Amino acid sequence: MYKAPRGMSDILPSEQPLWRYIEEKAASICHLYGYHLLSTPVVEDAGLFTHAVADGTDIVDKEMYTFRDRGGQELALRPEGTAPVCRAYLEHGLFNLPQPVKLYYIGASFRYERPQAGRYRQHHQFGFEAIGDADPLLDAETIEMAQRFLFSLGLRGFTIHLNSIGCKTCRPRYIAALKQYYSRFERHLCQDCRNRLQRNPLRLLDCKKSHCQEIAESAPKITAFLCDDCRTHFEQLQEYLNALNTPFSLNYRLVRGLDYYTRTVFEIQPQEETSQGALGGGGRYDNLIETLGGKSIPAVGFAAGIERLIANLHEQRVNISPPPHTFVFIAYLGAEAKGEALKLSSLLREQGIATTASTGDKSLKSQLKQANAHGSNYTIILGQEEMKTHTAQLRNMKSGEQSVIPLMQAAAILREIQGSQSN
Ligand code: HAM
Repeated sequence: MYKAPRGMSDILPSEQPLWRYIEEKAASICHLYGYHLLSTPVVEDAGLFTHAVADGTDIVDKEMYTFRDRGGQELALRPEGTAPVCRAYLEHGLFNLPQPVKLYYIGASFRYERPQAGRYRQHHQFGFEAIGDADPLLDAETIEMAQRFLFSLGLRGFTIHLNSIGCKTCRPRYIAALKQYYSRFERHLCQDCRNRLQRNPLRLLDCKKSHCQEIAESAPKITAFLCDDCRTHFEQLQEYLNALNTPFSLNYRLVRGLDYYTRTVFEIQPQEETSQGALGGGGRYDNLIETLGGKSIPAVGFAAGIERLIANLHEQRVNISPPPHTFVFIAYLGAEAKGEALKLSSLLREQGIATTASTGDKSLKSQLKQANAHGSNYTIILGQEEMKTHTAQLRNMKSGEQSVIPLMQAAAILREIQGSQSN
C-alpha cells in the first residue's frame, strides 16, 4: 500500500473548512491593506534559492529538494515564497509600477526536515511582500497586518519578537565581534555551532541547545553595532509600532533562518512556546532584488505557516462554522423511480440546490441512513406508488415530518424552502 511521503499530509474533506477559513481571512486582510495575489510555480531554478536564501543556511544546504529535469536543468521545489515573488517582480518588470508593489501568496513549500509536530516536509505558507520602499512605516504596517491577520482568525496571546540585524555596512563589524567572542568557547559548542562559527556566525545566536544558549546569553548585542541609519530606522519602527498600539518584545538574539534579511526581523511566537515553533516570521530584505540581478530595491514581508495556525486554532478551541451540507438527498425504489431521481437531481442542481442522489439498489432504510450521514436537510423519496401518481414524498430530516408533493413542483417547493431558510 502506498502512503503519502513522510512529512507530507493529505488534507481531508473534514479539515477543508479550516483551510478555507484561513484562506478567506488571508484574502480579506490583503484586500484591507492593498495586497494583490501572485501565484508562482511550485518549482523554480535551484539557483534562485542558493542565491537568495544563500549557501550556509540549513534551508539551502540540508533541506532543499533539488533535481535535474529531463533537459538537465537543476530545479528545486520552493522551500519558501519570498525569492519566487522577487523573481516574478523582476521578470515581469513590476518595478515600473508605482512602488511599493504589494503582493501576497498562499501555497505549498518544501523542506527536507526531520518531521515532528509542527514541522513538515511539505507545509503551506500565507505570505505577503511589499517591494520598493525602505520606509520603516512599511515595516510597522507589515507587523501590524500580521498581528491583525492572527486576530481575525481568533488567535490570541501570541508575542511579536523584534530585532534589527543591521545592513551591509554595520553587520560585518558585529559578525567580527561575535566570532571573536565565540572562538573562546569553540570547544564547548555543539557540532552545528562549530560549523556556524565558520559559515554563518549570526545563526550561533539561535541555537536551541541549552549549553549553546548559555553561551549566547553573554554574546555581544547587535544593537550596539548598528550604524546611524540602521539605528534610526529601528527606532522609528518602534515609534510607529507604539503609535499603532502593536505590542512587541525586543529580542536581540532573533536572527531568522534565511540570509537575505537586513535591518528589521520579527517572529510571532504562539501563546505557549510549544515545540511547534513560530506561527510566522518576516522582515526586511533590502539587498535581495539586487542579488537576483535587479537594481537596489528595498522590500519587507512576512509569512505564516498554515499548519501551525491550524494547530493553534485547535489548541485555542476557536470555533469554525461547519461547511454547508447537501440540501437534498434523493432516495428511490425501482428502475422507473431511479430514472426520475436522476432527472430531478440534475434539475435541482441546475437551480442551485445542492443535491445528492442515491445510487444502486439499496433499501429505503439504508438510503435514509445515507441521507442522515450527508447531513441533508430534506430527502425526496420516489417509490413505485409515487411513480403512478406523479408525486414525491418530501421528508424533513430534522423533524421527521413527511408530506406528499407533486413531482412537477418539487424543484419550486425546495427552492422556496431554501430561500426562506437562508433569509
Ligand atoms: P520562515 O520563518 O522560514 O520564513 O517560514 C515562515 C513560517 O512558515 C514559519 O514561521 C512557520 O510557521 C512555517 N514553517 C516553516 N517551515 C515549516 C515546516 N517545515 N513545517 C511547518 N511549518 C513551517 C520564510 O519562509 C520567509 N520567506 C518569510 C518572509 C516573507 N520573510 C519576508 N517575507
